Amino acid sequence: MPIGTTLTQFIIEEQRRIAGATGDFTALLNDLATSIKVISNAVNKGALIGVMGTLESENVQGETQKKLDVITNDIMLRHNEWAGHLAGMASEEMDEVYAIPGQYPLGKYLLVFDPLDGSSNVDINISVGTIFSILRAPVANRAAGTEDFLQPGVKQVCAGYALYGSSTMLVLTTGHGVNGFTLDREVGEFLLTHPNMRIPEDTKEFAINTSNRRFWEAPVQRYVEECLAGKEGPRGKDFNMRWVASMVAEVHRILTRGGIFMYPRDTKDPAKPGKLRLLYEANPMSMIVEQAGGASSTGYERILDIQPEGLHQRVAVILGSKNEVEVVVEYHRTA
Ligand code: AHG
Ligand code: MN
Ligand code: MN
Repeated sequence: MPIGTTLTQFIIEEQRRIAGATGDFTALLNDLATSIKVISNAVNKGALIGVMGTLESENVQGETQKKLDVITNDIMLRHNEWAGHLAGMASEEMDEVYAIPGQYPLGKYLLVFDPLDGSSNVDINISVGTIFSILRAPVANRAAGTEDFLQPGVKQVCAGYALYGSSTMLVLTTGHGVNGFTLDREVGEFLLTHPNMRIPEDTKEFAINTSNRRFWEAPVQRYVEECLAGKEGPRGKDFNMRWVASMVAEVHRILTRGGIFMYPRDTKDPAKPGKLRLLYEANPMSMIVEQAGGASSTGYERILDIQPEGLHQRVAVILGSKNEVEVVVEYHRTA
């Protein structure tokens, strides 16, 4: 579809290609796009509207909540609960599944999200994002329970993220490639600016929080050491490094110019196999990355194949340029 196509036209035309589509999914995506516009507005106005700062509360992960974590979670709930497309929602910021209030009809989809990713960056005016994943409810029109959400990533109907950067973008996949839209604030619409995004297969750029280095497992230690050794080392080329601490921003960079992103398993807290959460961070990002020709693994297995056991389950994440991820996976295989 041509550059400048509105998101609305794009999803309606995609829907027309699917026999038997009812329009429910299209309408759900429209509501999601609205929530993202509202979040973008709040993030952008920032201190002008008093949304900055930290709360006393902690979320289920034991992380202190930013005011904006709670505000953006609420925006997602309010804009997606009423229309009758969902049988339930789950979020990083809610311990349990969110039941659709009784006055609204139930639908056939489940929505899972990280309403504000990279929230440690919000007070310092660095890019943050929203990550979402849409699943089919095992039973339509019935209030969903936790079990219903525990589907492997390969079952996702749609995955996407919004990046609140120097411009606001919405990047999404429904399993037919990845497309990026930029919010035109004056027009109030997302317009197609990045059709068919593809991740270069090779890269010289890696992203990892090296302050955790002493806790990494041997294969990751080896990989990073070899990157740092540069031209003279076994990889025979110089690498560059980036760490934004907003997964959305890292994945967006990788979709734009390639790279590898790692939040690997480490020994810091043996109870936590990685930092990132499977259902609303790793799975949607892995679907996007694979759809753009990249790869995504824990080092030991493909992320999209993992059978989830809990809503807030954590997982190791190694994703990005295909050949580079393959190198790290190979180091795990032969360790
Ligand atoms: P969230 O703000 O939703 O809790 O996620 C933050 C995540 C991810 O976006 C980022 O890659 C990572 O945490 C940063 O971790 P460090 O603070 O350890 O660098
Ligand atoms: Mn996050
Ligand atoms: Mn978050």
